[in-house]
Amino acid sequence: MLASRISNMVIYVTLLCVTSSVAAGIPFPANDPTIVQTVLVPFKDFPEIPDLSADYPEISEPSADSPEPPETIFFPGEQLFDVTDYGAVADGNTDSSSAFLSAWDAACAHAENATLYISEGEFLLGPVTFSGPCSNGKSPNVEIRGTLMAQPELDAFPDSNWIKFKQLNGISVTGGKEEAILDAQGGVEAWKQPSCRKSEKCKILVSSLRFSNVSNGNISNIALLNGKGFHVVFQDCNNINIYNVNITAPGDSPNTDGIHVSQSTEINIASSIIGVGDDCVSIGPGSVNISVFRIYCGPGHGISVGSLGRNPNEKDVTGISVRNCTINGTQNGVRASLVKLSDIEFKNISGTYNSKSKITLRCSSSVPCENIKFEDIHLNYTNKPEIL
Ligand SMILES: *[C@@H]1O[C@H](CO)[C@@H](O)[C@H](O)[C@H]1NC(C)=O
Ligand SMILES: *[C@@H]1O[C@H](CO)[C@@H](O)[C@H](O)[C@H]1NC(C)=O
Ligand SMILES: *[C@@H]1O[C@H](CO)[C@@H](O)[C@H](O)[C@H]1NC(C)=O
Ligand SMILES: *[C@@H]1O[C@H](CO)[C@@H](O)[C@H](O)[C@H]1NC(C)=O
Ligand SMILES: *[C@@H]1O[C@H](CO)[C@@H](O)[C@H](O)[C@H]1NC(C)=O
Ligand SMILES: *[C@@H]1O[C@H](CO)[C@@H](O)[C@H](O)[C@H]1NC(C)=O
Ligand SMILES: *[C@@H]1O[C@H](CO)[C@@H](O)[C@H](O)[C@H]1NC(C)=O
Ligand SMILES: *[C@@H]1O[C@H](CO)[C@@H](O)[C@H](O)[C@H]1NC(C)=O
Ligand SMILES: *[C@@H]1O[C@H](CO)[C@@H](O)[C@H](O)[C@H]1NC(C)=O
Repeated sequence: MLASRISNMVIYVTLLCVTSSVAAGIPFPANDPTIVQTVLVPFKDFPEIPDLSADYPEISEPSADSPEPPETIFFPGEQLFDVTDYGAVADGNTDSSSAFLSAWDAACAHAENATLYISEGEFLLGPVTFSGPCSNGKSPNVEIRGTLMAQPELDAFPDSNWIKFKQLNGISVTGGKEEAILDAQGGVEAWKQPSCRKSEKCKILVSSLRFSNVSNGNISNIALLNGKGFHVVFQDCNNINIYNVNITAPGDSPNTDGIHVSQSTEINIASSIIGVGDDCVSIGPGSVNISVFRIYCGPGHGISVGSLGRNPNEKDVTGISVRNCTINGTQNGVRASLVKLSDIEFKNISGTYNSKSKITLRCSSSVPCENIKFEDIHLNYTNKPEIL
């Protein structure tokens, strides 16, 4: 049913747009021999790509006058597991990791609905993994009212994750407006590492918030700051909405992707403000049916789709829809995609960029591109100095 298959040709599209990338810790090969010519991707005769976001409920634009999030409604039988009841201290100094884990274990073991409650104040946290499955078959909800500060040193994170959720179903992670802050303190040590784009010597990066094998859930109303590496990672996840999330790191902080998706299906990334030192959103191998809409990206390297093919057996990327996004002054790192890309659309993308190409798609005979659509792209080149 595909109207067009581009193959037996190496293509390097420099059209305002696209993609590629991903994979933490992978430097871009300086000279890519696969690029032999430049052509434009044909636009006509592509089948309609379904609007994957059509059924998704309207959610508020992030703006200064966004309404307060509704108060948490606790259902009968729902129990609150307050981390301070398990020994967490909101003084910004006392490592509360084990208290958080004890509260989680109790909430996860609870036979009825449970909420892990993180009250106001500042909690210092090392690596924590919130694992399931839980006894009622559903993840406890997570309600964040305070600020979480990561231990600053990289050595404190041998597993390369700060806060990780794994093997869970039905999760809700939400916070109060401008209160729920996850500050990974990347500026203390992590950003002194070389950029993985430029060096093979970069260390494994620490992700701030990782979801691994998590299905069905919503993540909203939280702010992530100063990632040591990627801010949010979805891996082996299905059916998750992430919206009203602010992600902020300096434009020159290395390897600080905003949201990274791989090996996951049905992820909606919406209504969020992302300003980081690397890709705002990166959609990696094995991603299927991913919608990105109403994202403000800047500074950052834009929105990327694809893979460098560094790992064996990487899966293709298909069903990607990027709509109604604004990109402000981003740089685009051009990296090859070595997995097949199909059913990808970029629609109504506006803003400015300051590198040679905003959207770059690379396809080759071994990894053809199928059904790629660009519509309504308004990106102006600005000759501003690079963000440094
Ligand atoms: C995100 O930033 C906007 C604009 O600064 C602000 O109005 C909103 O409350 C922030 N949201 C969160 C969850 O921090
Ligand atoms: C658990 O919460 C759901 C809503 O999230 C509610 O429909 C259900 O009745 C609750 N179950 C119990 C046992 O309270
Ligand atoms: C994924 O999580 C579910 C529980 O939600 C578990 O039963 C399953 O074994 C996990 N799969 C993998 C590959 O870890
Ligand atoms: C996530 O949000 C959707 C849409 O509002 C809702 O239908 C679903 O029940 C929510 N899931 C969880 C686990 O809270
Ligand atoms: C992706 O979306 C298409 C079209 O809605 C659907 O047919 C397909 O089953 C979805 N695939 C996955 C893995 O969710
Ligand atoms: C395009 O996206 C912007 C947000 O970036 C939105 O305000 C505008 O209404 C959209 N326009 C169309 C025609 O979809
Ligand atoms: C994009 O913006 C247009 C115009 O505001 C709106 O009709 C459409 O629903 C939006 N699409 C998404 C996916 O937000
Ligand atoms: C774009 O970014 C610049 C520099 O950060 C800022 O001054 C400007 O207001 C932004 N423009 C828009 C439309 O957000
Ligand atoms: C791009 O340039 C055109 C023509 O100068 C202008 O009308 C438009 O507003 C600019 N768009 C952005 C997003 O800066």
